Amino acid sequence: MNGPLIDPNEFVGLEGVVHLCTGGEAPFLRSHLDALARFARDKSDGMAGRERLFATYDSTKQRLSALVHRPPADVALLAHVSEGINLVAQSLDWRPGDNVVLADVEFPSLIYPWTRLAHRGVETRIVPTRAGLIDLNDVRAAADERTRLIAASQVSYLTGQRLDITRLCEIASAVNARLLIDATHALGVVPVDAGACDFLVSSCYKWLLAAHGVGVFVWNRDRVPDLEPASLGWHSVEWFADVENPTEVVLRPDADRLEIGNPSFPSVYILDNALERLARVPTSAVESHVRALGGQVRDGLVERGFRVLTPVEPSERAGNICFSSPDPLEVVARLAEQHVLVWGGEGRVRVSVHLYNSSRDVDRLFAGLDSAGFPQVASLSV
Ligand SMILES: Cc1ncc(COP(=O)(O)O)c(C=O)c1O
Repeated sequence: MNGPLIDPNEFVGLEGVVHLCTGGEAPFLRSHLDALARFARDKSDGMAGRERLFATYDSTKQRLSALVHRPPADVALLAHVSEGINLVAQSLDWRPGDNVVLADVEFPSLIYPWTRLAHRGVETRIVPTRAGLIDLNDVRAAADERTRLIAASQVSYLTGQRLDITRLCEIASAVNARLLIDATHALGVVPVDAGACDFLVSSCYKWLLAAHGVGVFVWNRDRVPDLEPASLGWHSVEWFADVENPTEVVLRPDADRLEIGNPSFPSVYILDNALERLARVPTSAVESHVRALGGQVRDGLVERGFRVLTPVEPSERAGNICFSSPDPLEVVARLAEQHVLVWGGEGRVRVSVHLYNSSRDVDRLFAGLDSAGFPQVASLSV
């Protein structure tokens, strides 16, 4: 029996609810309401308050730095993951004949931006998966001396597969390509090492337990010494040019140059609070917890005859356990009637286990599936 690592009562609205849906949308910590009240007080307190807004922003970067194992100066707070991926697409010095390698199961925001480079002669090279899973040998085979970038999610939103980032780093190095990692389904639940890649992005409203309006971007300045951003604003520069020479641009040396204006401070206050709460539980404990619960979910699904997409090997999964379903929305709706929240779509149902879940939640999931008469014949494995 695995109890929760954080009491579900610390969240708004979880009374009587089994929340297995963090891969879609995490529940909201009650303490975020205090963080928002702090923001409101600081916002009203003139320039002294504004200093506190930026102190919270600095604190957030410090906390993220510890999580991704890079200095705070490598961390930028952008609006979301999609902005960070587009920043990479727009800022690298592409040459005709270059290619970008990524798998067919990636989240759309990791696929679309490269298609905008086609007119500059850049090919988006898609690696087909096998039964939805990425084989890193296929990624290696698709990459060649014209590969400028390999992009991948550390943990898949669709199948829950967790990739070996060290191996991906070796593959990228072998062809001298940059490596971009989307750690949205990894950060906050399993260890993330941004030192092994060139760029890393992550959403904050899922496993990091924060909200929307802020996304993490890590620019590994040891591996990529210079990055000329395509967009500029007051926050990008070291100092403002004077009236004599108003177009002079001196970029900030660190990742601050990638933030072109003020961040969304309410979101930053929430993120800082979420990171403080998460830091009270060691990442290794969260990882062991979700491995144990995920194993319980996986075993129960297999026992019932569901076709599970997530690998069995604990090192190849994090918090998402996915199974195919002919009608995922129906499964989601029937479970929701029993106050069990999961995500469904694209032919799959995703069960997400995080640090506030327990074995009891997994039992409730199976009681819900059993009483609703799932699996249906078409989703049975053969
Ligand atoms: C892998 C992955 N990346 C990014 C996102 C969200 O992107 P954004 O932060 O741009 O809204 C999601 C949302 O489901 C996702 O699953």
